[in-house]
Amino acid sequence: MGQQKKLRKAVFPVAGLGTRFLPATKAVPKEMLTVVDKPVIQYVVDEAAEAGIEHFVFITGRGKGVIEDYFDIQFELEQTLKARNKNAELTLLSGLLPVAGSASFTRQQEPLGLGHAVWCSRDIVGQEPFALLLPDMIMRGDKGCMKGMVELYNKTGGNIVAVEECAPDQAHKYGIVGVGEALEGGFKITEMVEKPAKGTAPSNFFINGRYILQPEIFKILETQERGAGNEIQLTDGMLKLAKHQDFAGYHFKGDTYDCGAKDGFILANVAFAIEREDIRSQIEEPLKAILAALK
Ligand code: UTP
Repeated sequence: MGQQKKLRKAVFPVAGLGTRFLPATKAVPKEMLTVVDKPVIQYVVDEAAEAGIEHFVFITGRGKGVIEDYFDIQFELEQTLKARNKNAELTLLSGLLPVAGSASFTRQQEPLGLGHAVWCSRDIVGQEPFALLLPDMIMRGDKGCMKGMVELYNKTGGNIVAVEECAPDQAHKYGIVGVGEALEGGFKITEMVEKPAKGTAPSNFFINGRYILQPEIFKILETQERGAGNEIQLTDGMLKLAKHQDFAGYHFKGDTYDCGAKDGFILANVAFAIEREDIRSQIEEPLKAILAALK
């Protein structure tokens, strides 16, 4: 490991409106929608924990209180489970509980953009590097995406952005990075372009929603400059930071499900359900029948 400060904290911005999932998100945060039997946010917190993160910082907003409750004990439920000798369920619940004092919650009063949500974590994060995980992206690979990023960070320091490849004709939909010198486990990022005009993308590597950032980003985000969609954009802040600090790309190889969109959410449910022996045997034939009826 180099001289870089240890990565201890991860930020989860969960204050967005989730308009793509209305009407459900009128009453349920999209991060609490379930993939098989766990809320989406649990998969993302697990990915951070697997990478060695010790403190989990949630940027919440109005109507998101249920997320805070989810990461607490549910006294009555647990007493009832105990009384009924439901030990497997009790073990499951206690295994998912963050260690006391290792989760912090702060509010973004208005959803002014991802950059603003990240800025809201400045006092809790302090002068340390931090991981940022978009909580509606579930990633599945032989190695967790954040775990791979931390390994790269321990060699390079600086800022790390996870990327994946998209079809070149789809690059205009994403934040795209330019690929420079190869590093062990990654590459130097030469430029970042948010939604490049068709045919102008510097590569087909898109930013997939996992970051390791240095705390200097907070000073930049403090200026509260509005960008695309009149929102305070994280990408604008990263572009400014990249003038003074290195950014490396970590090429994540695995499956990513954008659970903030209906297609990604449904695919995640099918993919994770099929992996579970108990469920697979129940749904395999009916699923095949549904797909066969499409032809
Ligand atoms: P998205 O744009 O994907 O989420 O932001 P959204 O705004 O909730 O969803 P739609 O587009 O209306 O359906 C990416 C992540 O950043 C968070 C969101 O909660 C989401 O997890 N976010 C976004 C905030 O926390 N605050 C914001 O002001 C904006």
